[in-house]
Amino acid sequence: MKLQLLLLFLTCSVIVVNGLDNGVARTPPMGWMSWQRFRCITNCDLYPDDCISDKLFRKMADLMSSEGYLDAGYEYLIIDDCWLARERDAQGRLQPDPDRFPHGIKDLSDYIRSKGLKFGIYEDYGNYTCAGYPGILGHLKTDAQTFAEWGVDYIKIDGCYSKFEDMEDGYKEFGQYLNETGRPIVYSCSWPAYFESSGIHANYSLLADICNLWRNWGDIQDSYSSLTKIMQWFGNNQDRIGPYAGPGHWNDPDMLLIGNYGLSYEQSKMQMAIWAILAAPLLMSVDFRTVHPAYKEILLHKEAIAINQDVLGIQGKKILTITNIDIWTRPITPIINDSPTYAIAFHSNRDDGYPYAISVSLEELGLRNAKGYSVSDVFEPQGEEIVQIQDKFIVKVKPSGVVFIKAVPIGS
Ligand SMILES: *[C@@H]1O[C@H](CO)[C@@H](O)[C@H](O)[C@H]1NC(C)=O
Ligand SMILES: *[C@@H]1O[C@H](CO)[C@@H](O)[C@H](O)[C@H]1NC(C)=O
Ligand SMILES: *[C@@H]1O[C@H](CO)[C@@H](O)[C@H](O)[C@H]1NC(C)=O
Repeated sequence: MKLQLLLLFLTCSVIVVNGLDNGVARTPPMGWMSWQRFRCITNCDLYPDDCISDKLFRKMADLMSSEGYLDAGYEYLIIDDCWLARERDAQGRLQPDPDRFPHGIKDLSDYIRSKGLKFGIYEDYGNYTCAGYPGILGHLKTDAQTFAEWGVDYIKIDGCYSKFEDMEDGYKEFGQYLNETGRPIVYSCSWPAYFESSGIHANYSLLADICNLWRNWGDIQDSYSSLTKIMQWFGNNQDRIGPYAGPGHWNDPDMLLIGNYGLSYEQSKMQMAIWAILAAPLLMSVDFRTVHPAYKEILLHKEAIAINQDVLGIQGKKILTITNIDIWTRPITPIINDSPTYAIAFHSNRDDGYPYAISVSLEELGLRNAKGYSVSDVFEPQGEEIVQIQDKFIVKVKPSGVVFIKAVPIGS
């Protein structure tokens, strides 16, 4: 009861979200998805090690399990677009490209699951996937059954080649067929990304009833500018979409770019921190064979992951901007004296070369515990410091980087 009152207070709203009742995604899903890094590479002569194929996914499964990612909580290995054959089989069922997936999907799924991982796949609600392979329209029931037979644990349903007016009912209907298979499957829905990009507000209450997560906005590309555009959209729309995040149903700002070509080391820590604040699904899309150890360390960062996975499931917000440095906060556990702990990220939009100093107090950031807080740095731990809420303290933020701290209330 106390917790419920607190949650109402924290979200400052009376929106009650019950959400989809399929028992999965109680914390933001964590895993790896092929799209951002491997896209729709289907030419295995030109890209023998990178093409969307059985070989690629087995290799990624091996490394995801042996290199510590699974132990850190990343459990879903998800095939994105371009796995399908151009035609359905003689019985009208989906089938993979025979050259690139010679053993079929069930065999690959069994292999992935034998590594202790869970298996995810991609389809599209329309007549075709975005890359032009067969979509599920007209075959919803058969395809839901096929996915369950293949041991699918997570499905992303995209929205290309479908009509806006069909999407709400159509995604709902497919969700019903998934439910009827009896297999708990994480259901990722893309229709808000199509609606919102066209200036139409999606119905997030409906989304939380039907889907475990949903892409809100455009695809992430391998660049800092793409990343910050998505962050800006999340900040601008946080009061409208934020209340619908919670255990079982999440807003999805898209994959982690960390370890690829487009983000610097500081920018990579920044994405990890902001995704933790946003209670965002943590879906890596990196080549485990070549990822630099420094970036791997960010992906595996225990405390950042713990903040992301916090059981309250409250999506954080951008609450203040000082001299072009955005401050994002998220209430998390433990709750002490009825006050939540806070994760706080300072992200600099500045590019003037040096770690820029700002002075701020916890009170200005909305923290209220009268006895103060024990504050520590998530990425650069140097012990804990007691800070009273009115104390001004200095934070120095590197250009396009982040300072990520945690403030635990001091008890009586
Ligand atoms: C999907 O294909 C069917 C059959 O060709 C067609 O009637 C329908 O209009 C198509 N739907 C969309 C959204 O393009
Ligand atoms: C199907 O839906 C019912 C009612 O919401 C729920 O209790 C059940 O757990 C769901 N089953 C699966 C497999 O999702
Ligand atoms: C949004 O969906 C809910 C069902 O969860 C429904 O009750 C409500 O009327 C819908 N809102 C709009 C504006 O369509």
